Amino acid sequence: MATSRKKLFIKTYGCQMNVYDSGRMADVLAPLGYEPAEEAEGADMVILNTCHIREKASEKVYSELGRLRLQQQDKAVRGERMIIAVAGCVAQAEGAEIMARAPHVDMVFGPQTYHQLPEMVTRAVRGAGGVINTDFPVESKFDLLPGEGATPQGPSAFVSVQEGCDKFCTFCVVPYTRGAEYSRSATQILEETRRMVANGTVEITLLGQNVNAYHGEGPDGGTWGLGRLIRALAETDGLARIRYTTSHPRDMDDDLIRAHGEVPQLMPFVHLPVQSGSDRILAAMNRKHTADDYRRIVDKLRAARPGLALSSDFIVGFPGETAEDFAATLRLITDVTYASAYSFKYSARPGTPAATMAEGRLTEEDKSARLEAVQNLLAEQQRAFNGLSLGTVQPVLFDRRGKLPGQLLGRGPFMQAVHAHAPDRLLGQVVPVRITAASASSLGGEVVTAETVHGRESALSAIAADPPPHSPAHSHPTGTQEVTA
Ligand code: SAH
Ligand code: SF4
Ligand code: F3S
Repeated sequence: MATSRKKLFIKTYGCQMNVYDSGRMADVLAPLGYEPAEEAEGADMVILNTCHIREKASEKVYSELGRLRLQQQDKAVRGERMIIAVAGCVAQAEGAEIMARAPHVDMVFGPQTYHQLPEMVTRAVRGAGGVINTDFPVESKFDLLPGEGATPQGPSAFVSVQEGCDKFCTFCVVPYTRGAEYSRSATQILEETRRMVANGTVEITLLGQNVNAYHGEGPDGGTWGLGRLIRALAETDGLARIRYTTSHPRDMDDDLIRAHGEVPQLMPFVHLPVQSGSDRILAAMNRKHTADDYRRIVDKLRAARPGLALSSDFIVGFPGETAEDFAATLRLITDVTYASAYSFKYSARPGTPAATMAEGRLTEEDKSARLEAVQNLLAEQQRAFNGLSLGTVQPVLFDRRGKLPGQLLGRGPFMQAVHAHAPDRLLGQVVPVRITAASASSLGGEVVTAETVHGRESALSAIAADPPPHSPAHSHPTGTQEVTA
């Protein structure tokens, strides 16, 4: 029987790992006739790829499931079927409870099982009750996912290199939802990257819950750290930029720090979550480092790569956090100075040690006040950082069309969103852009053409001060040298 065409809608919540996983789920389902759809309405299968990190994130799933039930019923009236699946970290954490709360769900499966989707779909279609799969299989999904024929991801793409976490920070669900740390082989990663670059990708972001804990098998049979992997990836012809996220301060080893000074494709921007500036709270969180350890790592990174910018994650209102502890967090932020950052109110997660710390719990009001203070300081730093870009020329990777006609949108080296008027043919290219506008959250500029580059000393010196990742020595087919916009 020929495979009939069916519509698949995947809604992704949470972190970049989930974004990556959603792409791979689509790849696994493509041979079964499922094609990506833009909306749930009318879809034959809807997958919610969920996040369990904070209470709000996981509650969203149930409201979405309520809405989907109506659409599923509409289809049923027409004699058609909508398969509803819950994947990701809520699926892993709650399993059968999801079907108990929402019996119209056909499949619940965790982040390590989606290579088994074809089999799960067959079972769900037969309709003999819901399918639940929250195992941590012995085989790795990465060894079984389709390689050739994966959907092209565009100019900027994710490559998962490491998964899971053995750190057990006392507030965090990830070690339970994603399981133990696992590193893919370097050979697999190099191959996936080569394939992506052949399909038009010029920037990769290496992903892992603890990406710098990476310790995969190298082609030489030895164990490679992230620094070594990055150096090997930098040899890929046509790959202009390399990033990685999320890193843990404890795994920021000297080789990786050195790579920042030595690998021109490695972008001068690191997301390095610290959570708190108080040693007492860091200990209670089981982060296993002090605020000064973190300051030292930042200093080393900036010594290796002058101008390197940082972002971070902060949790306010962890149980027992006093006014002094919180002041220490503000002090750390002031000392480090961030280009951007995320901050959250502590959310007690079932099954985590911190959820049972009754002592010193903060009220919602206190948490909100601290969140506001921390966000004001971080926003001020981001505005100041963006302001520093005014008048400079930044290499921008245009990866999408902007809101206005004739406008493209991309990212500079420091992950700042940059928009400029530019022709579509510059999509997927790294292009020098003179920054003429800076707001709290983005930059605007003008593409520097070959003529203006030659004509203006200032533009040239700005480029020299912050060299684009592929200066002529590292040029590649989509380079910026011939840009004549
Ligand atoms: N592996 C990364 C973080 C993964 S979770 C790391 O170690 O830093 C992403 C962010 O969510 C965390 O950095 C933390 O700031 C936040 N987070 C995690 N659990 C949380 C909780 N229970 N309440 C509030 N924020 C939380
Ligand atoms: Fe969670 Fe900590 Fe692991 Fe990050 S390092 S995923 S915060 S347990
Ligand atoms: Fe959320 Fe799971 Fe990522 S809990 S942040 S989707 S690892």
